[in-house]
Amino acid sequence: MCVPVNGPGPAGALTPVALSRSRSGRPASSPTDAAPPTDGPLVDTFGRVHDDLRISVTDRCNLRCVYCMPEEGLTFLPRSELLDFEEIVRVATVAHRLGVRSVRITGGEPLVRRGIVDLVRMLAGVGFDDLSMTTNGMGLETLARALADAGLQRVNVSCDSLRADRYARLRRRGDLGRVLAGMGAADSAGLAPVKVNVVLLPGENDDEILAFADFARRTGRIVRFIEYMPLDADGAWQPDRVVEGARVLREISARWPLEEVPGSKVDRAPAERFRFVDGAGEIGIVSSVSQPFCGTCNRLRLTAEGSLRNCLFSDDELSVRDVLRSGGSDVELAALFRRSVWGKARGHGINTPGFVPPVRSMSMIGG
Ligand code: 5AD
Ligand code: SF4
Repeated sequence: MCVPVNGPGPAGALTPVALSRSRSGRPASSPTDAAPPTDGPLVDTFGRVHDDLRISVTDRCNLRCVYCMPEEGLTFLPRSELLDFEEIVRVATVAHRLGVRSVRITGGEPLVRRGIVDLVRMLAGVGFDDLSMTTNGMGLETLARALADAGLQRVNVSCDSLRADRYARLRRRGDLGRVLAGMGAADSAGLAPVKVNVVLLPGENDDEILAFADFARRTGRIVRFIEYMPLDADGAWQPDRVVEGARVLREISARWPLEEVPGSKVDRAPAERFRFVDGAGEIGIVSSVSQPFCGTCNRLRLTAEGSLRNCLFSDDELSVRDVLRSGGSDVELAALFRRSVWGKARGHGINTPGFVPPVRSMSMIGG
């Protein structure tokens, strides 16, 4: 397959410009010599407008999922290298002024960051349209209410098996019962609709597709089946380890007919949304590898130590922390955002010959 592009960005067709190649076979970080715009929305050289920021608040996690972290041997950032809450909020405020409307708090595991509820309250004060969090759910039972009261609107909870022994194996630590209790607490706190992220691995949990569909039908939670991406610290990813979204859709619709949720093609969320024809709920399919959605990508990431990253799969990062800690102005921070977005490549290139996975794995980038 060639460089994967799904279609035009929101501001028109993707404009091919002269591209040099990086070490991974992806287009290099700076697709054009032209300078980024100095006003208007955060736009890249392909016309994609960026209005969604993922903020990682820690690289630590209380689990060690096989598709993400190694079992042993990860070194974590010292606390002094993490952005503090004032720094995060300052960067988020600049992003808001630049048109970012949606913020997702990620990790590692965001709930292990001390004071996370205070950070949520501070971020809620910035005035984003949407403030959500991706969590492994281990700490959710105790924190869901406080998070909702602080202004969090929604959560995505990762959960890859509904069988306790398997859950423990895939996530190496953790407790399914606690995570399910966390989802319940999130429902009750109004962090709704709760979305459940399932990474499918062949021979591990791909026999639970129908069980998860049934779970979605019974609970009203939106189960999102995510293709395994080459972002695992163990380097075990292989193309044949991807359980394709198309298969998931086939299996579920053979049992319970599905229809596309109207309008889901128009919004730029990576999940394709389907609802059960009998009205019993909704699922999402995130085919990041087999059907990349790079063509409509509107996401930008801030790592826990304060680097802007324009793609999960690009190692090119720009340090907002350096700007913050050398007394830089908001204008300089805004310029860094514009540069980061402007340097975004057309696609992740996973399906391109010579693709090399990024140096950092998922927990170090922020999901
Ligand atoms: N491939 C796909 N999804 C991943 N996640 C973590 N690592 C991977 C990977 N290699 C998901 C987790 C979580 C989110 C933060 O990212 O399941 O839901
Ligand atoms: Fe932790 Fe999330 Fe990575 Fe699992 S996927 S190890 S819960 S950061």
